[in-house]
Amino acid sequence: MEKILIIDFGGQYNQLIARRVRECGVYCEVKPYTTPLAQLKAFAPIGMIFTGGPQSVYLEGAPQVDPDIFTWGVPILGICYGCQLMAHLLGGQVTPAQNDSAREYGKTLTHYDTSCKLFQDLPRDGVSWMSHGDYMAQVPQGFSLAARSDACPNVAIADEVRGFYGVQFHPEVNHTEHGRDMIRSFLFAVCRAKGDWTMGNYKDRAITDLRRKIGAGKVLLALSGGVDSSVAAALLAEAVGPQLTCVFVDHGLMRLNEGNEVEEAFSQWNINFVRVDAEARFLLKLAGVDEPERKRKMIGEEFIRVFEEEAKKVGKVDFLAQGTIYPDVIESGAGDAAVIKSHHNVGGLPDHVDFKEIIEPLRMLFKDEVRQLGRELGLPEYLVSRQPFPGPGLAIRIIGDITKDKTDTLRLADFIFRDEMARSGEDKNLNQFFAVLTNTRSVGVMGDGRTYDYTLALRAVTTSDFMTADWARIPYDLLDKVSTRIVNEVRGINRIVYDITSKPPATIEWE
Ligand code: XMP
Repeated sequence: MEKILIIDFGGQYNQLIARRVRECGVYCEVKPYTTPLAQLKAFAPIGMIFTGGPQSVYLEGAPQVDPDIFTWGVPILGICYGCQLMAHLLGGQVTPAQNDSAREYGKTLTHYDTSCKLFQDLPRDGVSWMSHGDYMAQVPQGFSLAARSDACPNVAIADEVRGFYGVQFHPEVNHTEHGRDMIRSFLFAVCRAKGDWTMGNYKDRAITDLRRKIGAGKVLLALSGGVDSSVAAALLAEAVGPQLTCVFVDHGLMRLNEGNEVEEAFSQWNINFVRVDAEARFLLKLAGVDEPERKRKMIGEEFIRVFEEEAKKVGKVDFLAQGTIYPDVIESGAGDAAVIKSHHNVGGLPDHVDFKEIIEPLRMLFKDEVRQLGRELGLPEYLVSRQPFPGPGLAIRIIGDITKDKTDTLRLADFIFRDEMARSGEDKNLNQFFAVLTNTRSVGVMGDGRTYDYTLALRAVTTSDFMTADWARIPYDLLDKVSTRIVNEVRGINRIVYDITSKPPATIEWE
């Protein structure tokens, strides 16, 4: 399998680079710059990309690579810091930009030398996304200038003989016109990739590998109904069918019909499918609890307890499977970051389940690839394209204490909202949307009578990473339709509000 190696210097777009490469049908992995050269060589890539990073190459302690990497004979594309590092280590000179005009941030008109392989078949001028405060005062021997901006004569450098290319801008971001074409040219014209990495191939290989690894062993997986655990379950079901037990803990805090949909999707495989109806148990535990963090912790703990009890019934298992995906693996640790919410992902590690090893069959895939794999495996579209749903479920969308009535009310209101969004096609423009049952009651009038019912909030956001989000500008007429339907069809709600706060300062969920 042809592979590209992405060497990570800590830039903010590193995952994006990996996704761009994979979109071209070329497999790649991101490895930290501290990885020893021997290990990088063992990976046997056909090309390397050095990412950007927040540092300056000439400062002490700045990330480095083993200079022998340049005599290995593998083509390199350096982006931003990666470009400067290459220039620095190959004898060029990188200095702080002397004046403000040589620092460049944001959209910059750039002029390309289209005889350079990286820019072949592109227009001579285009906008690129710059983000650099350093300047290549002298380019290394063997390199020529391949692009310039009005402020900077050396925006890109190339040594076509050795296959080394460096750009000061970010071709991976959408703001760079033709950025994808540049990455494509590096892969296909410089590294001579064939681009034959597809999800179909991946599926076949993953199934073979899983069979080899698992042998006759038994596998246990906690299925939440979310995309990741569902696809992991489907892949294992395809690989080792009857040896797999999926424990699906239905905590009663799912959306309407969700539990049945999950069960139905897995009826196509001959596996051990255990659905635990734990609604009463969770409601009992949560009765009277209104503090968000307590709710989250209690649900997480209770989930593990139920899972453990079921696991014990299965007996000794050899492997515990999890739906970990690539962004979880390469996301640098949160370190000292403040805990805003204690996220719990269904499938956290239980204490009292005896198993030999953990297997994570989606560990190298991005979310969109996981969805694609799910389709390849024949999972239904409503499951594969499901938007994120928090582990604690509707519990954190009911403000204040939780009762069966409230969960049923919210479930129905949420369903109507989702239904109208899907009918109008507006759901395609949004990354996440849902309803929240507040604990505010207000006076209303229905027919000739007074009502004193709950206020429901609608929330819809657009986001690329869920770290920041913008509230969605849903058409008023659509909001009106949703509002009218909910107050007419759902008892206990007499007022609807729309949340117009972005993240930050709000978070996406209300608790
Ligand atoms: P916030 O509310 O922190 O949410 O802006 C960001 C994204 O994370 C989801 N979320 C969770 N996902 N377990 C999860 O698996 C959780 O406990 C959890 N809490 C929030 C949220 O739906 C949004 O997509």
